[in-house]
Amino acid sequence: MTLEKVWENPQILQINREKPRAYYIPCHDESAKSRNRQLSDHFRLLNGEWKFSYFSNVNDINDKHVSNEVDVSGWDRLLVPSCWQTNGYDQMQYVNVRYPFPFDPPHVPNENPAGVYVKDIQISDLSERKEQFIVFEGVSACFYLYVNGQFAGYSQGSRMPAEFNITPYLKDGKNRLTAVVLKWGDGSYLEDQDMWRYTGIFRDVYLLSRDAIRIEDVFNRAVLSEDLTQGELQIDLTAKGSCHAEVLLKDERGETVGHIAREINGTESLSMTVDSPALWNAENPVLYDLYVKSGEEVLHFHIGFRRITVEDGVFKINNEAVKLKGVNRHDSHPKLGHTIPLNHMKKDLLLMKKHNMNTVRASHYPNDPRFLTLCDQLGFYVIDEADLECHGAGEAGDIHWLSKQEDWQAAFLDRMERLVERDKNNPSVIIWSLGNEAGYGINHIKMAEWAKKRDATRLTHYESAAEGYKGHENTEALDMESRMYPTLQYVEEYAKNESKTKPMFLCEYSHAMGNGPGDAADYWELIYKYPKLMGGCIWEWNDHGISRTDDRGNVSYAYGGDFGETIHDGNFCIDGLVKPDRTPSTGLKEIKAVYKPVRFKMKSAEEGLVEVTNLFDFTNLSDYEIQWMVERDGEVVQQNVIYDLDLHPKASKVIQIPYDVPEASVSSYYLTVSLLQKKTEPWAEKGHEIGFEQFKLPVKKQIPEKRAGKHSLKTEKNGSKLVISGLDFTYVFNLEAGQFEKVSLNDYECLAGIPSFTAWRAPIDNDAPILQEWKKHGFDKLNMHTYKAEVVQEDESLIELQVHFSLSAFSRFPVVKGTANWKVHSSGAIAVTCQADVNGEVPYLPRFGLEIPMPKGNDEVEYFGNGPHESYMDMKSSVRKGRYLTTVQGMHEQYIYPQENGSRYGTDWAIVSNELGMGMKFSSNEGFSFNVSRYALAELTATSHDHQLQEDNSRTWVYIDYKMSGVGSGACGPALAENYQLNEKSISFSFEMEPVFKEH
Ligand code: GAL
Ligand code: MG
Repeated sequence: MTLEKVWENPQILQINREKPRAYYIPCHDESAKSRNRQLSDHFRLLNGEWKFSYFSNVNDINDKHVSNEVDVSGWDRLLVPSCWQTNGYDQMQYVNVRYPFPFDPPHVPNENPAGVYVKDIQISDLSERKEQFIVFEGVSACFYLYVNGQFAGYSQGSRMPAEFNITPYLKDGKNRLTAVVLKWGDGSYLEDQDMWRYTGIFRDVYLLSRDAIRIEDVFNRAVLSEDLTQGELQIDLTAKGSCHAEVLLKDERGETVGHIAREINGTESLSMTVDSPALWNAENPVLYDLYVKSGEEVLHFHIGFRRITVEDGVFKINNEAVKLKGVNRHDSHPKLGHTIPLNHMKKDLLLMKKHNMNTVRASHYPNDPRFLTLCDQLGFYVIDEADLECHGAGEAGDIHWLSKQEDWQAAFLDRMERLVERDKNNPSVIIWSLGNEAGYGINHIKMAEWAKKRDATRLTHYESAAEGYKGHENTEALDMESRMYPTLQYVEEYAKNESKTKPMFLCEYSHAMGNGPGDAADYWELIYKYPKLMGGCIWEWNDHGISRTDDRGNVSYAYGGDFGETIHDGNFCIDGLVKPDRTPSTGLKEIKAVYKPVRFKMKSAEEGLVEVTNLFDFTNLSDYEIQWMVERDGEVVQQNVIYDLDLHPKASKVIQIPYDVPEASVSSYYLTVSLLQKKTEPWAEKGHEIGFEQFKLPVKKQIPEKRAGKHSLKTEKNGSKLVISGLDFTYVFNLEAGQFEKVSLNDYECLAGIPSFTAWRAPIDNDAPILQEWKKHGFDKLNMHTYKAEVVQEDESLIELQVHFSLSAFSRFPVVKGTANWKVHSSGAIAVTCQADVNGEVPYLPRFGLEIPMPKGNDEVEYFGNGPHESYMDMKSSVRKGRYLTTVQGMHEQYIYPQENGSRYGTDWAIVSNELGMGMKFSSNEGFSFNVSRYALAELTATSHDHQLQEDNSRTWVYIDYKMSGVGSGACGPALAENYQLNEKSISFSFEMEPVFKEH
């Protein structure tokens, strides 16, 4: 066998691979600035169709396969870049913490799948003066390279470039490139990130035709004086041999502001000064262009003058305390897996920008280098992370194990070096991260020290050093205390603790799995309150569902286990703010509101005084406009725009909004103040609403006069059924069930079954910390039991019924015992007051309310409450009170893993009706959580994929909840905060319902 078995040797990380260097594509002229690689004479993309032969065991590959003699005409064809698994090779597998193979470093399974890639290319311009390089931007997990049948090199480390000088192996005419890619190698022990495990040449491959004498590496540091008025660009040039180089710096307008021309031998440092440079920050990413010219090559770099510091525990950019409003992003595509088209990256970033994010953590490995170029240009702060995670070592018994092994130190360092060297010139990169969840030991300390030494202009981050590790408590080279999913209390204690001197960074918080997250607003209360808190990154950007299309063209999403794999972590990969196709979920809207760069606070509602706080770090609010409007019962009655509010970053000002509302009214009045975009930006149009706040205006509530009963009430008892009739309605109260079983108006029947009190909700992913407790107490099997139901008052204008009931599951004590008082008025209104006592031994309730089955076909929904989308008591920053007309399906929020969704917190009234407006109205002076669904609760609870949900074929389910517990982020984060739990032991709740025919 040709392959020397180096894939189980952590000391051999490469053979013949070029030293890591800064990313650039040499071009022949200044069009390098366009970053269109194809314009360069020196660049040749090798993406496209390659011949491919898959082997389930690498040992089946022999010398012939990699020789020029092998006949590949019958081989498969595979697009490069791509992943095997998205093309039907090997096995789709999603695993989180565990290694998908035994923990026996450096050994990997003998049966190690491998693929041979072959590409025949023509070369015609070989010359003495040139050298030919091949660059693989990303190959998982390790590979051997052959050129014309000769071994040319080996590399491991999946998400970092591998460059080889292949000049000696090339000839004029046809040349054969062969890559043998292995699924696993010792490096796989360092690549145990929580994700779909993909293999293959999944990023671009290209040839570079380079001058034999050339500039090989460039390291730019744009350093600012303390007062920011003086810029110094330090440029380290590394030449191969001795070469003449010309360095040109141009400002935004294209004017040359620096020029040096000289001979470079080995590595030399140049320096240029720029007076009063325009500064780079995420809000205004001003870039200078640096051209490095030598021989026939022009290299282009973006230069951003910015200063990153920590002063007195406060993280600063350009001397301003900056809060990182971030998100964790994986390279993840619903069809292409780990292969990300440029436009797809761009779309992600534009969507983030549109949702007020200023930071991305490249979790958990370096992304395509072009991703960083986009971040430089669009304005993002990037936490750039080494491709290093050993989470499964913890499962095996010692998370720190690999980090302590000296024979793995080179492998650890390699990953740091290749990250820093590649990305060192991107202004957007402000923090180097040593990786994720790999324990902490000497190997990490060495990584951090190396990074600090190589690049002192940026900060270092590593979360798993959090609690230190015995013998390796040294965290000196780490600039911040990084935490994931801490409780609010923990964060606040840290912030207050004066002995803690480093800023705290929440590298992961608010786990956005399924319905949620519900705790983001609370974290940001703290982050704004304490200067030592530098912000954080939500976990995570997108759901990693795999798109599948059925025969009828319907798209659905698969997760772990859906591909027949035995070791998997189910739907734990469906935990993003956007769906796999990047449709924003409620979580993203919530985050947009929480991250909004402005606050409006009501100072005096009587005088219309609103305090505006500018939460941008560098932008005057006059760059935006403020709009206000007053709505009466959801209808706009007054509005205006304030242009040019001159307000500096972080400053506050009280403005007067001249609204006019009556002293008392039957209507409710709300003021909404919004911040709007004045200009069209690549991510949003002029007029786009960046953020808003809504305030209820103090108008005394006049009680509307009730419709007088037109007719006296009549009752008739028929066994256990009490028939109550008025002029145009008939209700039947079932005294055995303790509920109405018929509610009809002009014989239009509004019920399709017997309503019931209920406390269960289809569990959301974020219920994880409490779910077993709920089940233990039978919450998922509750039935309403009626002890007694009786008529307590009966006259012409009012019938009053009293019902004693409980909610209980078999072989369990009742969870709730209550009394419901039902009053039927001669107008037709049914008022209920419920007093419920919750068993002292049970945990907080998912919800408490009435579940009402209405006939199918009651599809129209109109309500006055929060909208237009779902809201929960802890996730309501993005909704506003108003009058909404929608449908039952419009209320449904799709989660790939079905769960409670679509609730409307703080509803005043709601009507569920057919299209003609015939239906039922529910209202309460106290506000309630309202929901309606085509799916029965049991169906939502039991179904594992959204597309498998079966509609109830006879009923529409309506929920009038006294309260619905919050959503939190407990799928990975802390348990739901107490203030969002429905943990009252004595509940009293009242609302009204009545059949209606709507007059629109
Ligand atoms: C973190 C980890 C992430 C992801 C997340 C859970 O511990 O860093 O990679 O696994 O938990 O979704
Ligand atoms: Mg992990």
